[in-house]
Amino acid sequence: MKKYLFSGLSLMVVCSIMQTACSFNNSNKNSMDSTHAIIAKPFGEIEGKPVTEFTITNKNGMQIGVINYGGALTKIITQAKDSTWGDVLTGYESLKGFTQTGNPYFGALIGRYANRLAKGTYTIDGVEYHAALNNNGQSLHGGLKGFDKVVWDAKTIGDSSVQLNYSSKDGEEGYPGTLKVQVVYTLTSNNGIKMEYTASTDKTTVINLTNHAYFNLTAGKDSTIHNHVLQIHADQYTPVNDVLIPTGQMLAVKGTPMDFNQPKRIGDDLDKVQGGYDHNWILNKTEGLQEVANVTDPESGRVLTVFTTEPGLQFYSGNFLDGTLTDTKKGIKYIKHGALTLETQHFPDAPNQPSFPSTILKPGEVYTQSTIYQFSIQ
Ligand code: GLA
Repeated sequence: MKKYLFSGLSLMVVCSIMQTACSFNNSNKNSMDSTHAIIAKPFGEIEGKPVTEFTITNKNGMQIGVINYGGALTKIITQAKDSTWGDVLTGYESLKGFTQTGNPYFGALIGRYANRLAKGTYTIDGVEYHAALNNNGQSLHGGLKGFDKVVWDAKTIGDSSVQLNYSSKDGEEGYPGTLKVQVVYTLTSNNGIKMEYTASTDKTTVINLTNHAYFNLTAGKDSTIHNHVLQIHADQYTPVNDVLIPTGQMLAVKGTPMDFNQPKRIGDDLDKVQGGYDHNWILNKTEGLQEVANVTDPESGRVLTVFTTEPGLQFYSGNFLDGTLTDTKKGIKYIKHGALTLETQHFPDAPNQPSFPSTILKPGEVYTQSTIYQFSIQ
């Protein structure tokens, strides 16, 4: 197995198989004889550090991009039932897009604590900590400079994986302990994006890692996700207050707009949920990596199935997208409900809710999280 460490701005091309596999273009994406391969190319520079985009292609022609700024996914190119290819991931043309103020975490890795901590305040072993506030007096997605806004170390593993590493300092954004985080993205040969997270700390801390990819399975053909059909295997969800902090209740979805146990068109009940969907579903799963949700675009036939080890899923219907982001792919205006996220996670504000599964990580323990975004055609 070859391993490459990337540094500097020079163009580096990585192919573990053969050079020809590196020079694919759209035409060979229509054949089934592509070879698994990774291409790395410069994607700009931030704070004096080079950013690289890794494009992974599998034998079916499916392609994903990952950058080491924020560990963000940059593209997910999948096939529709009419055999055409399209990018189902919202994103930007360049690094400038990702670094703009108000980038709503497109494609990024989220940490140290995904979603919200009430007033950023939590207590560990009798000591009160204050995470940076960045959202209506609450702490959202790790604070002012979360894992989505840092440059990760990156290297390729074989011909289908990119490994990202980040060391978060003791006290960073108000979290105790030096946290060493590793995330491995793999494009599988059956069109899955596997994300494997591990972390360890030298002081007891809280941790909740996820990925914040936004999907529109029409690949730009429809400006909203109203017609997407969603299924979430969950009998309960965690309701929130007016600043989107869980009230601590765990309510049944049955008979409410939150019920996605049977596949349901997202637009059907969207107007009945104040502000739109932006909630944590308590997954019915028991243990291990299990299927928890799927979403289908009936028009293109694209299906995204989500597998995870996590107990919760944040389904967010892109309520705050308002068409103002710049440097977007092909200049697309990402409007309200233009895309959705399915963020696999522990529950928001768990450190302040004793009845929620624990998010405490102690020295000597290893945090793990695995999620697969699996693509298919129906
Ligand atoms: C998560 C949150 C939302 C919103 C988005 C980013 O999904 O739950 O409220 O903050 O991230 O815009």
